[in-house]
This record gives sequence, C-alpha cells and structure tokens, in this order.
Amino acid sequence: MKLVFATGNKNKMREIREIMSGLKLDVLSMKEAGIDIDIAEDADSFEGNALIKARAVFDFIREKKIFGDEQVIVLADDSGLEIDALGGEPGVYSARYMGEDTPYSVKNAEIIRRLKRKKGAERGARFRCVIAAILPDGNEIIADGAFEGLIAEEPAGENGFGYDPILYLPEYGRTAAQIPPEEKNRISHRGKALKSMREKLSRSSISGTFENP
Ligand code: IMP
Repeated sequence: MKLVFATGNKNKMREIREIMSGLKLDVLSMKEAGIDIDIAEDADSFEGNALIKARAVFDFIREKKIFGDEQVIVLADDSGLEIDALGGEPGVYSARYMGEDTPYSVKNAEIIRRLKRKKGAERGARFRCVIAAILPDGNEIIADGAFEGLIAEEPAGENGFGYDPILYLPEYGRTAAQIPPEEKNRISHRGKALKSMREKLSRSSISGTFENP
C-alpha cells in the first residue's frame, strides 16, 4: 500500500519515514508521487487546512488514477504557533503573519514587544500540529500534537526555523532553536502528531493490510 504525505518539505519527509518505518507502506512525497497541484489553505483551523490538503491530493490521485487500483493513504499536516496573550495568534496564519516575506527576526522581535508586560504563565504559547489522513475507503482520521512553552524574553538559538528562537521550553530550559534538530523532531508537535497518527492507523480497520505480523 502507498502512503502519500502532502508536502514538499524534505525534513517532514525524513520524519514521517522514520516514524512509519517497519510498516508495509511505501511512503512518498507529493513530488515523488508526481503530484503538482496548488491547494488554497483557506480554513480557519489547523484541522480544516490539513483536511483540505489531504482531500485535494486524495481526489487528484483517484481522478488521475496515479497508482491504478493500488490502495493509497494520504496524509497532510498543518501547524503553527499559538500565543495565549494574543488570543491564539498567529495560529493558522503563522506563515503569513506580518507578511509572508517579513523575516522571522522581525516577526519574533515584534511578538516579544507585544508581550512586554506579560509575566510567567501569561506568556504561555505552543506549536500545534494537526495531521489528517484519508484512508482508501474515504474514511478520515485526525491526530494532533503540541509543543508547550512560553514566549521567551529574548530570541535565542540558531537551530530550527521560524518561531523556534522565541519558544522557550521550561521542561528543557532552552528555546526550540537551542535544541539539536534530531532531538526536536523526537519531542516536537509534529513528532507527537505523527506518532499519534501511526497509533491511530494501527487501530484502524485497514491496519491488517500494512501491519507486519
Ligand atoms: P507548516 O504548516 O508546517 O508549513 O507551518 C506553518 C508555519 O508555522 C511555519 O511557516 C512557521 O511559521 C510556523 N511553524 C510551524 N512549525 C514550526 C516549528 O517547528 N518551528 C517554528 N515555526 C514553526
């Protein structure tokens, strides 16, 4: 059985291959599956956007008979940063927040400025990731994961990307950008959502077709 992950991101592909290893599933990116479509992610929730992407890719594979009669699972994810003191912003708008082309150094400095008067738990924030799966029979499964932290007083760290330098993780005493990438993948919102999805797939009606005995 094929599993297509609706992403072009190499890091995400590496993570999903690691987490789905040991299953009888041929894991492919959209590009590897020969799918090149533009999908408008215009929902107002992570779940909504993940479902839009997964359904679009699933329908495309069906219509174009990309894998003939072979069964396919399609997965798609959506993630972002939620800041309690900003009513959950930037949330689904994380990539577009303050403008798509605005450098993260500017976005991160502005977020810290907006939270200037907030102390301790008032600085609560998290990365959230929702993954949607469409099974060969059209059934849908949702899994999610969160990476809880606080908005740092100052950006710190060179690893990672995006908002990593300003999410301080009290459990680790560091920001997400100060954690080595492999370690972050193991404990991150996306890592947790992927693991949860693997467990849900293993409990689904079709698990017999890809689970090794
Ligand atoms: P995507 O849905 O994975 O493409 O993530 C959307 C946006 O959320 C990214 O462009 C980042 O702004 C933000 N984001 C998601 N995950 C992370 C992360 O692990 N670190 C930093 N920023 C993230």
